Amino acid sequence: MTSHYSDIYRNWESDPESFWLKAAESIDWIKPPSRAFDAEQGVYGRWFPDAVGNTCYNCVDRHADRGRPGQAAIIYDSPITGTKRSISYSELKQDVSALGAVLRNHGVEAGDRVVIYMPMVPEAVIAMLACARIGAIHSVVFGGFAANELAKRIDDCQPKLIVSASCGIEPNRIVEYKPLLDEAIHLANHKPEACLIFQREQSVATMIDGRDFDYGEELSEAKVLGQTSECLPMKATDPLYILYTSGTTGHPKGVVRDTGGHMVALKWSMSAVYGMEPGDVFWAASDVGWVVGHSYIVYAPLLHGCTTLLFEGKPVGTPDPSTFWRIIEEHQVAALFTAPTAFRAIKKEDPTGKYLEKHDVSCLRTLFLAGERADPDTISWAEDRLRVPVIDHWWQTETGWAIAGNPVGLGALPVKKGSPSVPMPGYDVQVLNDEGHGVAAGTLGNIVVKLPLPPSCLPTLWKDEDRFHEAYLAEFPGYYKTGDAGFIDEDGYVFIMSRTDDIINVAGHRLSTGGMEEAIANHPDVAECAVVGMNDTVKGQVPIGFLILNSGVERGNAVIEAEVIKLVRDTIGPVAAFKNVVTVSRLPKTRSGKILRATMQKIANKEAYLMPATIDDPAILDEIATVLEAR
Ligand code: COA
Ligand code: AMP
Repeated sequence: MTSHYSDIYRNWESDPESFWLKAAESIDWIKPPSRAFDAEQGVYGRWFPDAVGNTCYNCVDRHADRGRPGQAAIIYDSPITGTKRSISYSELKQDVSALGAVLRNHGVEAGDRVVIYMPMVPEAVIAMLACARIGAIHSVVFGGFAANELAKRIDDCQPKLIVSASCGIEPNRIVEYKPLLDEAIHLANHKPEACLIFQREQSVATMIDGRDFDYGEELSEAKVLGQTSECLPMKATDPLYILYTSGTTGHPKGVVRDTGGHMVALKWSMSAVYGMEPGDVFWAASDVGWVVGHSYIVYAPLLHGCTTLLFEGKPVGTPDPSTFWRIIEEHQVAALFTAPTAFRAIKKEDPTGKYLEKHDVSCLRTLFLAGERADPDTISWAEDRLRVPVIDHWWQTETGWAIAGNPVGLGALPVKKGSPSVPMPGYDVQVLNDEGHGVAAGTLGNIVVKLPLPPSCLPTLWKDEDRFHEAYLAEFPGYYKTGDAGFIDEDGYVFIMSRTDDIINVAGHRLSTGGMEEAIANHPDVAECAVVGMNDTVKGQVPIGFLILNSGVERGNAVIEAEVIKLVRDTIGPVAAFKNVVTVSRLPKTRSGKILRATMQKIANKEAYLMPATIDDPAILDEIATVLEAR
């Protein structure tokens, strides 16, 4: 198929208003938009300013009521617990509607926040949709974060109610969520009025009288009593959810997603970017705690009338590297979307792909990768084994959908390995130097998007417009700063090379090294520290911490290093994968006292570096290299 990408991109460029109004026709509105964009509202304008609709209605009711009641909306496959379950659109509607009633019984109203801290079970998706149904704003927190991180999010968004579960299950242990939740509520200044706890048989939690309520019991009771909830009319500009993501400090950024633009962009992406037809099975092997999970486990596949696959497991070890292939075959998955790290993990355990030979995966049409740079080796390995197009695409929590990709639904463009291909309609992607001037094709610089951002992108940060401005808009006036560095080649292909801030990408998870340094600084024996990202063959990057201890500390370095590892795990969570730490006597700094983290990172990765012109004492770099070699 010839690609229509260039025509479609030009259509958007020449008349964005008509382009997005046309895309909006695929949504069932209560009041359709009379215009697509109002440049006068919000920080950089707002999408579909006069439209009214409901996201849950478009994801659930319209399929349950018209055309797809018996089709599976969700297939839950959990090799880690040995459970499988299929939920039709009609069943999903009943559950979501009843859970909406349960939330309302607890006093949750439109605009109230609900934190969801849950493992990968259908009840998490049902809770998200129930919030959308009654107009409550959900904020899902990934289960791999510790109590302290959960507490920060509770304090920031001030939920009326928290939905959680008794436990999550990791290959090596049961993760008791309830004690983490109790600790988080203890640490937070804001206290929710109630918690709805989904009890799992693997570990049943002790409930607190008067505060904790049983999710399963309340849902069943509401169904027996025939309690339902209506899809409330929401303004397109009303927030649907808040999703916290790492910023340059330990304080996460509350990315706000609005209702209308999100529906329009995600629905458009399912056919154009992913080439999906309603009824197809779509599998995003991520977690509902991340943006990929929000957009492509929950909202986009359901908006499009697809079946979404909810996977509770890992690419390896649950039970072996054949899990992905078994699931694709068994559930006839048409498209798989995951992070390259998952394929690196499979490749490491099964380099020749012998586990794949036992499965017929001919139903798979495309593999999509995102979340981190897709290295050419991993792409080639996947192409050779699966014999389907392997499509890298680049996006962020802030955007909710691809900034650059290779839109297979419009006809795929030639793949250039190492590039997520070309900007999607809606995004005018440019590369600027530090002075804010455009650079020539092929020249490395700051990747920015000319304002306005397209539908689905964040209109602001939750109750922090100043930070939104300062973090994204101030440095390059008129542009959104992505925080990524890279270049655009002469054919218009975008290449993402690194971050321009202290964010690192560990197994597709976005983490702030600044946040880790803040946690380490709380250790009483640590005088100073620096954390940088070190290359890792499976996870892409892992953090490594450098410590300077207070003088006079007599306990051995190894003891303190182990305490620091535990401190980061307890403060941020196991997801930080903070397992490497070394003690040094000095840190390299500029003459004005700034730690030279970028140079340290190059040394840790055994990469060549230029001696920083402003370095105070070059000998410290050799000391760092010597300590690392001795590890
Ligand atoms: N609840 C509690 N703990 C969790 C958790 C959760 N939901 N998810 C992960 N963790 C823990 C893990 O148990 C692990 O703890 P450990 O240090 O005790 O082993 C730690 O957090 C790191 O987890 P993870 O990043 O998943 O690493 P892993 O070594 O267990 O697995 C991969 C490595 C590559 C297999 C895994 O990262 C993976 O499947 N990635 C797929 C890509 C992905 O989901 N990306 C998300 C964005 S698209
Ligand atoms: P998150 O907000 O967690 O989705 O992380 C977004 C960041 O992950 C981006 O700013 C990039 O640094 C990185 N990223 C995501 N997708 C890609 C990709 N396809 N190629 C390179 N980097 C990516």
